[in-house]
Amino acid sequence: MARRKIAVAGATGNVGREILNILAERNFPADEVVALASANSLGKKVSYGDKELTVQVLDDYDFTGTSIALFSPGGKVSAVHAPRAAAQGCVVVDNTSHFRMEKDIPLVVPEVNPEAIADYKKRGIIANPNCSTIQMLVALKPLHDVAKIKRIVVATYQAVSGAGKEAMDELYDSTKKIYANQFLEPKKFSKRIAFNVIPQIDVFMDDGVTKEEWKMKVETQKILDPNIKVEATCVRVPVFNCHSEAVNVEFEKPISASQARKLLDDSEGVVVIDRPQEMKFVTPVEISTQDPVFVSRIREDKSVAHGLSLWVVSDNLRKGAALNAVQIAEVLVKKHGL
Ligand SMILES: NC(=O)c1ccc[n+]([C@@H]2O[C@H](COP(=O)([O-])OP(=O)(O)OC[C@H]3O[C@@H](n4cnc5c(N)ncnc54)[C@H](OP(=O)(O)O)[C@@H]3O)[C@@H](O)[C@H]2O)c1
Repeated sequence: MARRKIAVAGATGNVGREILNILAERNFPADEVVALASANSLGKKVSYGDKELTVQVLDDYDFTGTSIALFSPGGKVSAVHAPRAAAQGCVVVDNTSHFRMEKDIPLVVPEVNPEAIADYKKRGIIANPNCSTIQMLVALKPLHDVAKIKRIVVATYQAVSGAGKEAMDELYDSTKKIYANQFLEPKKFSKRIAFNVIPQIDVFMDDGVTKEEWKMKVETQKILDPNIKVEATCVRVPVFNCHSEAVNVEFEKPISASQARKLLDDSEGVVVIDRPQEMKFVTPVEISTQDPVFVSRIREDKSVAHGLSLWVVSDNLRKGAALNAVQIAEVLVKKHGL
């Protein structure tokens, strides 16, 4: 059998480092793993299980003979190098937003639309959805299968890790400065992030919606059902890791809170922690570094015919990015012989 070589592009970043952790934790069947980043990181070391990998430069790397590449080097870099890797016979799972809405590129959450993975053959690229979309859809798919979703209204509370490693430093530095009565000029965010919340993630579009909000809508329609209406407000909060979402759903058919709790309890990738009388519900700091999507506060919304509200929390670097990508790669190996 041919040697299976895997490349991780963006290996020094938040998502890339987590991809390397998860490949090692899950004993991904690789004979060799290669770490790639920008020229600034040439020769740096990154951890892969109990080994260290020496970073090579993506620009110079020849993908011939590499089976699968897991990309998170930013949209503009993926735009250039993912098609180059695919042309050299490597299948790319891309974490950036660059290819997600292209018709012949599958956009996949393995618990929701695993069948779409087979379409990797069209362009040699599979897109990983936005972190906020992934966790919401893992929680909503089992409910959609039973009661059919008509409309989703969601407000997100997104951690700074979702904006990269420099954004995490900005929260840390900005918080420290405030204790010293000083102010740090924001760079990664449009406003001060410490002790504040910012109702803007990604750029504003012409209709006043942010690109992050638009992504939640169009990605939900591409992955789950084109008929679902989605209204999102995406907010950055001063939390280091794990995104939270307040999700309100209107269904076509009746569904009770206890039915939803049972359906989610039985679903792959979901953990229900929902005993409010005992103060049992999840918050982001409690579930960082864990794989599942956690659901709490499931309750009926009596303001519409068939409505539910729920609180959904997940580690955006794991299920929201790295884990989802590795799960796709596992299917490529098991079902498609890569
Ligand atoms: N964080 C999340 O929750 C999340 C979730 C889903 C998707 N994503 C997407 O994943 C991508 C990376 O996010 P991140 O949070 O990991 O960012 P990050 O922490 O800032 O890391 C960026 C990575 O890209 C590499 N890179 C930058 N320019 C490059 C170039 N010209 N050539 C090769 N490598 C280059 C960096 O290498 P150097 O260290 O050498 O600069 C670093 O490894 C973004 O597109 C983001 O939108 C992030």
